[in-house]
Amino acid sequence: MNQPTASMHGQWSGRLGFILAATGSAVGLGSIWRFPYITGENGGGAFVIVYLLCVALVGVPIMAAEIMLGRRGKMSPINTMAMFVREYRQHPVWRLLGWVGLIAGFMILSYYTVIAGWVMAYTVKMTSGAFVNSTSEFVKTTFDQFLQDPWALLFWHSLFTVITIGVVLKGVEKGLERSVRILMPALLGLMLLVVGYAINMGAFTRGFEFMFTPDFDKLTANAVLIALGHAFFTLSLGMGAIMMYGAYLNRSTSIMSAAITITAADTAVSLLAGLAIFPIVFANNLAPGEGPGLLFVTLPVAFGQMPGGVFFGSLFFLLVMFAAWLSAISLVEPAVAWMVESRGITRPKACAIVGGISWLLGIGTVLSFNVLSDAKFLWGTIFDNLEYLTSNVMLPLGGFFTALLVGWFLPKQFSHDELQLQNPFWYRVWFFVLRYVAPTLVFIVFLSAIGLFK
Ligand code: TRP
Repeated sequence: MNQPTASMHGQWSGRLGFILAATGSAVGLGSIWRFPYITGENGGGAFVIVYLLCVALVGVPIMAAEIMLGRRGKMSPINTMAMFVREYRQHPVWRLLGWVGLIAGFMILSYYTVIAGWVMAYTVKMTSGAFVNSTSEFVKTTFDQFLQDPWALLFWHSLFTVITIGVVLKGVEKGLERSVRILMPALLGLMLLVVGYAINMGAFTRGFEFMFTPDFDKLTANAVLIALGHAFFTLSLGMGAIMMYGAYLNRSTSIMSAAITITAADTAVSLLAGLAIFPIVFANNLAPGEGPGLLFVTLPVAFGQMPGGVFFGSLFFLLVMFAAWLSAISLVEPAVAWMVESRGITRPKACAIVGGISWLLGIGTVLSFNVLSDAKFLWGTIFDNLEYLTSNVMLPLGGFFTALLVGWFLPKQFSHDELQLQNPFWYRVWFFVLRYVAPTLVFIVFLSAIGLFK
């Protein structure tokens, strides 16, 4: 079996380049926008614990599996899966893993750019000083009114789509690595600033208790599924994004330490986001279960009261926008790489096609908050359905089959050689968790959410 040494699309400059890019993919709206709002909707403490367990027991081992598949395949997830089918004599049905990932990627990207568009709009709003000393009612009304305007949402969705595609156009090394190196430390710094403000402002203890005092009676089967799904979403797992980035990774980097570093960074940002937001919720009589608007009705209140809040607030939303951008790039890359490899399409053309499809699909999400907000089916609006299906169904399924492929179907030698762990004990631990624990957990959570199992 001849192993290509580098992918045709490029390669990271080294270990740090990969970790930076994958962290850039993981840290995004999932940590800063989605984690606080679903934690609020699902009662706090117990939900957070289940989420953390899912990250550790399902996320980390599956991330390692995705990286090694990508690094061995050196191509887009679709072609990487085709390679495993061919060279490791697997059943052709495994190719589906690549295809479902491609579809999930489009679905996520389509609403991701809409929400990121809100963040862009808020970056501009913050610079205007619109929220200085404003009440939480005012901030909430402003947000509700913003959502009522489909043209505004469409504008920001379009703009965000264009800048995302712009980076992917330039290719892996040039656009990505450089952006992450600057962004991540800055984002962490500003998050700490907001948490510092939350500590001084009074309701920190309540916010902290909300996040970390578990009340398992309140935890529903659906909440457990949401926590599991979010572990996939926030770590960019289950659709091939991390597999894709693994394809650009050199052979000397330790996969396990990379997976742990990326997960730790992502989890830290999520917890900080919660610690920044919930004290503000309780200090201002806002509702933790506010929903997707939570970020946008809490932080402007805090920045409005803070000295220098116009500056820090604008900077904060700007950094969140950058973080979302780096994540969105990883949603685009697998589809673009596949078109370039298999369809002979040039990179710019592939970018235009992917951007165009996602932009069109995104209109469904734009309208979910205004014109079509009452058109509910299955799990709610178009946006609710896209979010539920991708995060709670497609990504966990993708992860489940990734774990099965590496844990049960590929030769053990493969993962052993890829991981190259110094201590054989840790390899056995990882393999056991990937083979038994992770798939079983996903399976049980699915069954219980469907209601077969109580
Ligand atoms: N993880 C990113 C976030 O939390 C979103 C994301 C990027 C993603 N690429 C992905 C989610 C691939 C699932 C699959 O914002």
